[in-house]
Amino acid sequence: MKKIVVLTGAGISAESGIKTFRDSGGLWEEHRIENVATYDAWLRNQELVLEFYNQRRKQLYECAPNAAHFALAKLEKKYDVQIITQNVDDLHERGGSTKVLHLHGELKKSRSTVDENLIYKINGWELKKGDCCEKGSQLRPHIVWFGEAVPNIVTAVKLSSKADIYIVIGTSLNVYPAAALLNYVPNYIPKYLIDPNGSEVAGIRNLTVIKEKAGKGLPELVKELTL
Ligand code: APR
Repeated sequence: MKKIVVLTGAGISAESGIKTFRDSGGLWEEHRIENVATYDAWLRNQELVLEFYNQRRKQLYECAPNAAHFALAKLEKKYDVQIITQNVDDLHERGGSTKVLHLHGELKKSRSTVDENLIYKINGWELKKGDCCEKGSQLRPHIVWFGEAVPNIVTAVKLSSKADIYIVIGTSLNVYPAAALLNYVPNYIPKYLIDPNGSEVAGIRNLTVIKEKAGKGLPELVKELTL
């Protein structure tokens, strides 16, 4: 089976009602990133950080996967599909995709502040001050904050270098190290970028830019690839 590796960003979840990060009216508009999405913010004001992610999580429960998520699940009938996502939502999983690597963490999980290997599912939408891991320490959102290491990038690089086809969807390719993954895909491999604001990427060959929303562009591409 040929291997398709898919790199997704906030744009694939936009049509599910989840705001992207950098569009006007986006997720960060009312918040300075350094106040809610850094380790320093966590040290300064745990309540504010917990509340920011509680609201994101609450919203996620009200959202459903869209045509793009479902199209990726359908692609598994013909290909070995590996998704690498920058998104912290679970819409790929709920859309039926079976292999999803989260680069920036997962909204519905919490993590111990003394042992990064202790990761838990959050029941419901709230993580509160006083919620502790089995070692008695405060739980934090299982999110990779700005300035923190991205442990799954090593696996993502390996997966990207082994792709037979590479598809990038709905990411501004602004945030590293995720943005550099395209550089590890061999030159001769066919690559697609689906994003209404997409454009050629410097140094990347064999890239077809599809300037469409994911909900339209992706089902069309999947149809073409599964003919
Ligand atoms: N379909 C496809 N793409 C879309 C759609 C859509 N319906 N709507 C918007 N987009 C595109 C935008 O054109 C933009 O290029 O999605 C992209 C969203 O870019 P960003 O908001 O920068 O999101 P992303 O690239 O995922 O951000 C990366 O940065 O803020 C951090 O950790 C956060 O994971 C996030 C990372």
